[in-house]
Amino acid sequence: MNSIQHFIDGQWVDSVDGATFESITPIDNTVIATVARGGVADADRAVEAARRAFDDGPWPRMSPTARKQILHRAAALLEERLEEFAQAETLDMGKPIAESRTKDVPRAAYNLRFFADFAEHAHTETYAKPWDNVMTYTLREPAGVAACISPWNFPLMLATWKISPALAYGNTIILKPAEQSPLTAALLAQAFADAGMPDGVVNVVQGFGPDEVGERLTEHAGVDLITFTGESATGRAIMGKAAQTLKRCSFELGGKSAAIVMADADLDRAVAGTIDGIFRNQGEVCLAGSRLFVQRGIYDEFCERYVAAAEALVVGDPRDPATQVGPLVSTEHFDKVMSYIQLGHREGAKLLTGGERVTTGELASGNYVAPTVFADVDNSWRIAREEIFGPVQVIAPFDNVDEAIALANDSRYGLAGQIWTSNLDTAHKVARGVRTGTMWVNCFFIRDLRAPFGGMKDSGVGREGGLHSEEFFTEAKAVVIQFPS
Ligand code: NAI
Ligand code: MG
Repeated sequence: MNSIQHFIDGQWVDSVDGATFESITPIDNTVIATVARGGVADADRAVEAARRAFDDGPWPRMSPTARKQILHRAAALLEERLEEFAQAETLDMGKPIAESRTKDVPRAAYNLRFFADFAEHAHTETYAKPWDNVMTYTLREPAGVAACISPWNFPLMLATWKISPALAYGNTIILKPAEQSPLTAALLAQAFADAGMPDGVVNVVQGFGPDEVGERLTEHAGVDLITFTGESATGRAIMGKAAQTLKRCSFELGGKSAAIVMADADLDRAVAGTIDGIFRNQGEVCLAGSRLFVQRGIYDEFCERYVAAAEALVVGDPRDPATQVGPLVSTEHFDKVMSYIQLGHREGAKLLTGGERVTTGELASGNYVAPTVFADVDNSWRIAREEIFGPVQVIAPFDNVDEAIALANDSRYGLAGQIWTSNLDTAHKVARGVRTGTMWVNCFFIRDLRAPFGGMKDSGVGREGGLHSEEFFTEAKAVVIQFPS
């Protein structure tokens, strides 16, 4: 049995009170690890270590080039240990192994390299006013101790998305992975240690949010910054706590993003892209195109092709390289998704396919849901308004592009979106008209790490990526020089 401890100040340690919890695999709901369950005292220890490493340690004082060498070494270790990371991620939260191997782990390594390089080549502002004999320049200094609170849907990828810029800009961190997916965070801590990271710079505490280790990090005076990805309601709770000590917050929250398919779209690409847009990672994707709006002229044909594509997806054991849709992360989450499917029936949606648990053979003991498609969904229904976070698509027709934009905007979320069209003007009109953090034109999920990433409305606060991460993870200092005239 795997036993997972906290990693604090360069040491593997149990919880101060010895508490543990069990990590369960969604493949068959058996216990795969015993994990230290962090409380207030464990958060305090981690913050003290990160604080010492920030206030007195070498990391914030090293050159970006020296920091880069350690971050690149950690990235190389992730690649060397790719199979171990991929297997752990898949076992822990049910992601298909093909995704873990080719997407999540390589991207985690890339996150580290990208921000290490980006920080090394940062430029600063200079404002010269020779006519006044004055020059002002900006220093970008590490902002402090960052609490990185991450979710279970892309555990390693999202943890490194937060940690990489934090470290590259000289901060020290405490990672609190989701309680549903503790495994890869522990492997990551070991990779940093093996890469030569000074003690106290990277700390990983395991456990839950409310009243325990997670919440304590959000109220501790020794934490300067919080970067959080998860539910909008959790973001609200965290911001309330963080207000007491005036912490800087960056939140990536939920979504219910619109995918708009115009009659002039390349239908092969549109079907494939919008299928990927909801069924990738079992629909456990904040960026998912989880409301699909299709122009009326092609509505029936599109739905027919969509159902065929959904039914062709391979649902199975995520350790099988052929699997495209794995089990949902936990029985609680499975129940939530199934209750939304029941709600869809009650609200009057037309079920085109799926709608039930998959129980073939060994899948009977896991949390598998058949790819589900509801059609003729009204945008006012709860299944069109709330984040289901599972393999459940809702489709509705529209007549013209203005109506599609209005439907897309009729949501409390504004995280992402897709427009599928062959008309350039329509693409730009939708890109400008929808209030959302990211809009994909004839594609899905492609990210350039220099670009801003985040959400409008209830989908987030702030942006990360490239210069936006620099802005968040550094303090800007103005140095003003007057020359004698
Ligand atoms: P959550 O927001 O409860 O958990 C995310 C992280 O925050 C976890 O590490 C958790 O331990 C921590 N946390 C929870 N409460 C906290 C608190 N009061 N203080 C500090 N840390 C706290 O999300 P959960 O319950 O795992 O998922 C529920 C729903 O959230 C999903 O069904 C989905 O709708 C949404 N979600 C959205 C994600 C996204 O990428 N935008 C990712 C994961 C979930
Ligand atoms: Mg798990």
